[in-house]
Amino acid sequence: MTDPQIMLAERVQQALARAFGSEHADADPLIRPSQFADFQANVAMSLAKRLRRAPREVAEAIKAELSDFPGTVEVSGPGFLNITLDGSWIESEATRMLADPRLGVGTITPSQTVVIDYSAPNAAKEMHVGHLRTTIVGDSLARLHEHLGNTVIRQNHLGDWGTPFGMLIEHLLDIGEEAAVAQLEAGQGTEFYQAARAKFDGDDAFRQRARVRVTTLQSGDPDTLRLWHVFMDATVRYFNKIYSLLGVTLTDADIAGESMYNPMLQKTCDDLEAAGTAVISEGALCVFPPGFTGSDDKPLPLIIRKSDGGYGYATTDMAAIRYRVHDLKAERMLYVVGADQALHFRMVFAAARQAGWLPDSVSPEHVQIGMMLGKDGRRFKTRSGESVKLMDLLQEAVDRATAAIAERGYDEATTNEIAHAVGMGAVKYADLSVSHDSEYVFDFDRMLAFTGNTGPYMQYATARIRSIFRRAGVDPADAAGPLVLAAPAERALGLHVLGFGELISQVTAESEPHRLCAFLFQTASLFSTFYDECPVVKEGVDPETRQRRLALCSLVLRVLETGLDLLGVPVPERM
Ligand code: ARG
Repeated sequence: MTDPQIMLAERVQQALARAFGSEHADADPLIRPSQFADFQANVAMSLAKRLRRAPREVAEAIKAELSDFPGTVEVSGPGFLNITLDGSWIESEATRMLADPRLGVGTITPSQTVVIDYSAPNAAKEMHVGHLRTTIVGDSLARLHEHLGNTVIRQNHLGDWGTPFGMLIEHLLDIGEEAAVAQLEAGQGTEFYQAARAKFDGDDAFRQRARVRVTTLQSGDPDTLRLWHVFMDATVRYFNKIYSLLGVTLTDADIAGESMYNPMLQKTCDDLEAAGTAVISEGALCVFPPGFTGSDDKPLPLIIRKSDGGYGYATTDMAAIRYRVHDLKAERMLYVVGADQALHFRMVFAAARQAGWLPDSVSPEHVQIGMMLGKDGRRFKTRSGESVKLMDLLQEAVDRATAAIAERGYDEATTNEIAHAVGMGAVKYADLSVSHDSEYVFDFDRMLAFTGNTGPYMQYATARIRSIFRRAGVDPADAAGPLVLAAPAERALGLHVLGFGELISQVTAESEPHRLCAFLFQTASLFSTFYDECPVVKEGVDPETRQRRLALCSLVLRVLETGLDLLGVPVPERM
């Protein structure tokens, strides 16, 4: 099927070429949905300036050349082209969409290998709300790319290495493996870390042991590695509980933590030094990627080996970028990470280019995740000022959802199932519906509302269509075309959903899941208007009308289900 906006853009460009010469064939026709017609094209205004002609006159000339196009066009105002499509065209395209298992969503050819770095909590601390967003947004991007036929390689870049592990392992020995594992599996990583830290700061003998332990860990001592594994396995089991609660697609096979790069770090530094891009500065090995200066106008260093010989976060990312390009054969790399790391990634990308580790054909992109704020507009924390535990937060979402649906009279198992979907859907949708790089206020009341651009509203809209089919005694898959979009609300809904395929491509290309949320929200709103104005299963609706309206319901249902699935938002069968 054809995306109406793309079809119109082509036709207008052909008209431009005929009216003003082929050199104008690739001008942007500036087509937008309009309240006065289906679409408005504003190219006449911009072109008129270049041609030094009156915009209305230019618009008339375009109109005269707009031939073999399924609709009508009018010139209005200073030179807008108001375009109205033929109802029969919308009907036949929507009918084709209904018959298409992919709903007009294409596949990327040739397909690409896309490495997506997301979630990446730090094992030395509890997984906190900041990682919630990177997990949810990253997972949606992974789903979108896979849906378009790309090969997705998920990389969960866990913070699972470094000097804190000396004290963590010593603390584990102090309290005993069993107690430590129980605590970590229960999600008390922060308490564990804090207890270790307190001893490190206050107990000279412990600090000494912790330091020795870092060295034995780094030298690969088998006993120490075993203890590290005990710690990490328990921690990962906790992360997995969160992932399964959220329904994200990450598995243990996707773990590629900092520790994985440890054996590569020395070579990473040696190679950069040999290539002449890394130099010793004040005792540390540094790369000075071009174009980065500090406040004093001095070149800004990316430190890859500290003066004490230790490697850091940047060293690991330099090793990781080479691994991803060279071993994983990445053609596109997404780093779904907090916006506060923007400078780090710009420098790592620039340093990798400078070293020749990043061919021009590979584009690394930092998908910046804005900070999560509390209702007070500050970094999201508990009342006592601590960071909020993710497990507690998710449990609260489910509890609140349970309360919200309590009086609907479902049995306990069904209530739990719906509450889980609504609670997780609310949290996930709230994260996704705001552009990923803007800060975002975490507000249970707003995200759990059953009206507005929220998860529960979208789930409700979907469940409502399913219930129409239950009442009709028809399987949505059996609702066949052809579609007849006679009423204005039917026409508007049909026209809108035709944009689904192109939207999915754009959302994936630009890493903008919030635009998919906006599209689905509009779909649900238009559906609501349609359902108010056009009865489907009510008494008195003739069989033919009922059948063609069910076909439209089926098309909308599949758009909503597919879209929500690509966002990773679950949809309960009923609500
Ligand atoms: N663990 C890091 C953090 O919590 C995020 C890692 C992101 N990925 C990367 N390749 N640096 O801040």
